Amino acid sequence: NEIYLQGLGGQVPPFTTNPNELEESARGRLGPGPFWYVAGGAGAGATMRANREAFDRWRIVPRMLRDATIRHLGTTVLGTEMPAPVLLAPIGVQSIVHPDGELATARAAAELDVPMVLSTASSYSIEEVAEASGDGARWFQLYWPNDDEVCMSILDRARKSGFRVLVVTLDTWTLAWRPHDLDQAYVPFIRGVGTAIPFSDPVFRAGLERSPEEDLTSAVLRWVPMFTGTDKSWERLPFLREHWDGPIVLKGILHVDDARKAADAGVDGIVVSNHGGRQVDGAVGALDVLPEIAAAVGDRIEVLFDSGVRTGADVIKALALGARAVLLGRPYAYGLAHGGEPGVRHVVRGLLADLDLTLGLAGFRGVAELTPDALRRF
Ligand code: FNR
Repeated sequence: NEIYLQGLGGQVPPFTTNPNELEESARGRLGPGPFWYVAGGAGAGATMRANREAFDRWRIVPRMLRDATIRHLGTTVLGTEMPAPVLLAPIGVQSIVHPDGELATARAAAELDVPMVLSTASSYSIEEVAEASGDGARWFQLYWPNDDEVCMSILDRARKSGFRVLVVTLDTWTLAWRPHDLDQAYVPFIRGVGTAIPFSDPVFRAGLERSPEEDLTSAVLRWVPMFTGTDKSWERLPFLREHWDGPIVLKGILHVDDARKAADAGVDGIVVSNHGGRQVDGAVGALDVLPEIAAAVGDRIEVLFDSGVRTGADVIKALALGARAVLLGRPYAYGLAHGGEPGVRHVVRGLLADLDLTLGLAGFRGVAELTPDALRRF
């Protein structure tokens, strides 16, 4: 309504409301390095395509003459109340997209009351983002360092900064073969490396001979092995439980047996995700495995979903197939490219409005009513 009313006065939205045009529009605002870092996927892009194809195979079957004038989109996930079943996915190094980076995202998220998941690879420190986020709901995503002292320091800072839920990403213990970045030899390094997590971490810095500002190479040489390779196993999860007193969510689960292991290990939730097709090229479309995973563990732990969500209809499909909420990835980064905070707000508000309208027009009064019966598979 707001957009149409402003249209009567000759005003159009700041940039496209069309999810199919958003990426192209962001492309015009970013250099090729940052653009392809965000837009690209692993390998030949098969998994990125599979994510979209999985959504396209499911169609909503609208119902008529049901009073859906007033809709309830709100939900609670792991104790976090949210106005809609949508969170902002962890996206690292956002300052390559806009100088305000994660600060802009945090402000937009807080204003819309949408929880933000802050990445370990953030270009701003945990404390800076927490301050920008104000009263907003804050979840923290961990790339699990090999050094326990650094890990504990990061967790401690996140907890003290008001981050409630810990999202542990399991699928990125090394970066995949990403041709767009390789061909450009593009390294997404960051506004003054010294402020980034964990370069800004006091324990990490103590391990450097000099400060990272003085010696970027030594910081990078220390960072890479600390976050690559993995001696992690299911047996190491109690370490995180010991050092985090809030809910723990494992991100990057695709196999139903791993989902069961997560539930058996006593974590509180999982994100069914293939990292937006950025890690294992040729991996299954994330939505393709959501139903079996939700059926297997949905009554024991919270099942969240990301990878390929672009529209309100996509949110409806993921929820109908068993997700409790979805994480939005690239689209909000494209919003960030359009002028920072207002750009993120425009994209996220647009998605929520699209969700609200599509839900109502399909005959549902609330997200709680969504079941597989709302969909048909083709
Ligand atoms: C990511 N993603 C990600 N995930 C994570 O756990 N930590 C991180 O630091 C990042 N960084 C990151 C950077 C960029 C540029 C992108 C596009 C993605 C993955 C992200 O959280 C999410 O899983 C996907 O983006 C979801 O897929 P869509 O919505 O982008 O298709």
